[in-house]
Amino acid sequence: MKRAIWLVPVAMVMVAAAIALGQIVPGDPGSYPSVSVVNTPHNLNNYPGVSIPGNQVCLPCHTPHNALLSGDENVLWNHAETTQTFVMYKSTAGQPEGPSKLCLSCHDGVTAIDNYGGTGGTGIVITGSAALGTDLSNDHPIGIEYPTALPAEYRDPSTFAPGIGGGPGVKLVEINSLQRVECTSCHNVHNNGLGNFLRVPIQESYLCLQCHIK
Ligand code: HEC
Ligand code: HEC
Ligand code: HEC
Ligand code: HEC
Repeated sequence: MKRAIWLVPVAMVMVAAAIALGQIVPGDPGSYPSVSVVNTPHNLNNYPGVSIPGNQVCLPCHTPHNALLSGDENVLWNHAETTQTFVMYKSTAGQPEGPSKLCLSCHDGVTAIDNYGGTGGTGIVITGSAALGTDLSNDHPIGIEYPTALPAEYRDPSTFAPGIGGGPGVKLVEINSLQRVECTSCHNVHNNGLGNFLRVPIQESYLCLQCHIK
């Protein structure tokens, strides 16, 4: 009898865990978990050797005053920008601009991740697979105009499905009056609910099929 009483809550926990594990249903934003930037690798306090004063999660990327004025993106940017020259996937794409340049200001694997506020940082850089490096020719193209003129190959952007919490899913970024694919077309820098900071699930290649008709 005693044993059975214990088994019931154990079984309930197991069922709950199974639901939790299999809960992402592509196309059902209500099933997408939401994980604040505070609890992600973008809280640089989580990075070995890096310590941000007062655990200010936003500080390495943003500051309320005296932002490093960048022509690329007006988001009160506080991080040193990459000075690298990149090899692009498409020769038609220029050097990274806008939000993509901001991402590459850490993911180039060269710029110190805690080089913000003009401090210079400790010299700690991203290593391993999250360091895309300066050769982007083996990465999905960025800095390219979305080919809306190919309706048999590419979906109409007005049909892009919602993301976490019903917010924006896959999106295009307007730069120089062109609707472009940039890092933030697929990634949401502030929310890691779906893993890899993705805007919609990668399960069933749902992310890819937002744009590509295959
Ligand atoms: C690792 C770097 C990073 C961290 C940490 C970060 N952000 Fe951002 N944030 C960005 C980038 C890059 C953009 C521009 C790209 C975009 O618009 O998606 C941005 C854009 C924004 C924007 C304008 C666009 C939007 O999403 O509304 C706001 C507001 C913002 N961040 C607030 C915050 C706050 C508040 C925090 C801390 C709780 C924070 N961010 C932490 C990188 C970061
Ligand atoms: C201030 C530095 C910084 C900036 C700016 C930044 N990141 Fe990161 N990012 C990191 C660090 C540090 C990690 C953890 C790397 C590791 O674990 O090796 C990370 C990890 C990631 C990961 C892997 C997450 C996971 O679940 O493992 C993705 C995807 C990512 N970043 C995308 C982006 C994108 C897209 C942008 C721009 C919109 C961006 N990052 C801007 C520092 C940054
Ligand atoms: C077309 C969609 C798309 C674009 C554009 C894109 N990514 Fe990703 N990215 C993904 C997907 C999907 C994953 C997860 C699968 C994987 O690991 O390859 C990922 C993974 C990552 C990771 C984690 C890699 C690892 O192995 O730890 C980083 C870091 C990252 N992206 C950064 C970027 C940056 C920076 C840009 C812009 C230069 C960018 N991404 C552009 C779709 C995209
Ligand atoms: C935001 C829209 C978008 C998303 C999401 C997206 N792509 Fe793309 N993809 C494009 C565009 C636009 C091009 C470049 C088209 C051109 O200029 O020829 C492209 C190019 C490609 C190419 C190269 C084609 C060539 O001719 O060189 C491949 C392969 C590809 N994408 C696969 C994927 C995969 C796999 C995913 C999911 C992980 C994905 N894409 C997600 C928009 C997207």
